Amino acid sequence: MKVLVVGGGGREHAMVWKLKQSPRVKEIFCAPGNAGIAGLATCVDISAEDIPGLLAFAKGGGIDLTMVGPEAPLCAGIVDRFQEAGQKIFGPSQAAAEIEGSKVVAKDIMARYNIPTAKYAAFTRYEEAVSYVDQNGAPCVVKADGLAAGKGVIVAMDKETALAAVRSIMIDRDFGGAGDCLVVEECLVGEEVSILAFTDGVNVVPMISSQDHKRIFDNDQGPNTGGMGAYAPAPVYTPAVHSQAMKEIIIPMIRALDAEGRTYRGVIYAGLMITNQGPKVLEFNARFGDPETQPVLTLLDTDLVEIVEAILANRLDSIDIKWLAQSAVCVVLASGGYPGVYEKGKVIKGLDQVPAEVMVFHAGTAFKDGEVITAGGRVLGVTAAGSNIVSAIKSVYAGVDKISFEGMQYRKDIGYRAIERSQ
Ligand code: AMP
Ligand code: GLY
Repeated sequence: MKVLVVGGGGREHAMVWKLKQSPRVKEIFCAPGNAGIAGLATCVDISAEDIPGLLAFAKGGGIDLTMVGPEAPLCAGIVDRFQEAGQKIFGPSQAAAEIEGSKVVAKDIMARYNIPTAKYAAFTRYEEAVSYVDQNGAPCVVKADGLAAGKGVIVAMDKETALAAVRSIMIDRDFGGAGDCLVVEECLVGEEVSILAFTDGVNVVPMISSQDHKRIFDNDQGPNTGGMGAYAPAPVYTPAVHSQAMKEIIIPMIRALDAEGRTYRGVIYAGLMITNQGPKVLEFNARFGDPETQPVLTLLDTDLVEIVEAILANRLDSIDIKWLAQSAVCVVLASGGYPGVYEKGKVIKGLDQVPAEVMVFHAGTAFKDGEVITAGGRVLGVTAAGSNIVSAIKSVYAGVDKISFEGMQYRKDIGYRAIERSQ
């Protein structure tokens, strides 16, 4: 079959890499793709948000299956548009994807169905948000309601920071229309874990657990980023926590979405905080995580196309999804200055020196004059597997050591929490 992957980051490179291994797949297209994806698929110069353009390409090119990476097209209704046109596509409908597109919608559903999450209040008026923060104080977490590329969340340890966050979202409009509404949440304490699951709306099969590293600097210092690295599985997600999360969060949420007329088909992502009172939801996303997908798909043993087809036919219970009994780690190499302003166009050296067992998933890269150059904040996701977390970390950094570009920055401690737990 011919498959179209929508997106052009590290997550999409990992999806293309995994799809390429399927005996069912003849040809892969990726819109818009990047310099690394170009080695495995035909990159098509259509933006991931150009739904009419993507649909015309899928129809004209005889695409048999479309897979969507990023949230923006999902929240804009790409799945509905493709289905109306009779095109096979994998992902949640616009109504289902609203669990990521609107934090208020997600929180209200969780509240109605008693799904454990931080206590919250939602506001559409600046004055009301300010007086709430004034009365309740800090610490608290201020979140823009809509999509903000992972940047609309401010964890405020004092009242001044919280008030400044409310102002930046609602008055300065730093996140545009995403700030028409905001949520102020109780600040949860614990270790975070990402649980991705496949679902056909009824059956739910969790993937192997993973953990992102959101802060830019080692020891979780500095501002939040889109994710500086991830590993799987995450030892904090013990079998006991897993049963509790499935029983109290993942399955109830899939049932709730169905009951609310938002039947969810695709990959659902639960960002959980493992607190002293058990797992609680930080956020839901309507897609594979980035960079969690890089280690998670590295460990997926089953053909991804078989899983997708089972979901589209509402028979996810008919297949057995298998995982390698290994650990995998992804270290993100970012441009100097990221997550603030950064330069693009730096030549990337050493890609051909990386050991064969290490995968380099490209995120923000492009070709120029026959060389691979940087073209984004997160540039590469170097990924390796091993029989345990220590050996995976050793291999991944042996790969990282071969690569360089001007201003390159990365965390040296990806996976450290897993090592602490194993000791
Ligand atoms: P989100 O995009 O909602 O996951 O938020 C981004 C990051 O902010 C999360 O990965 C957490 O590190 C942090 N965060 C979000 N909500 C909370 C909360 N209620 N308590 C503590 N930290 C939070
Ligand atoms: N790694 C966080 C996300 O994909 O939203």
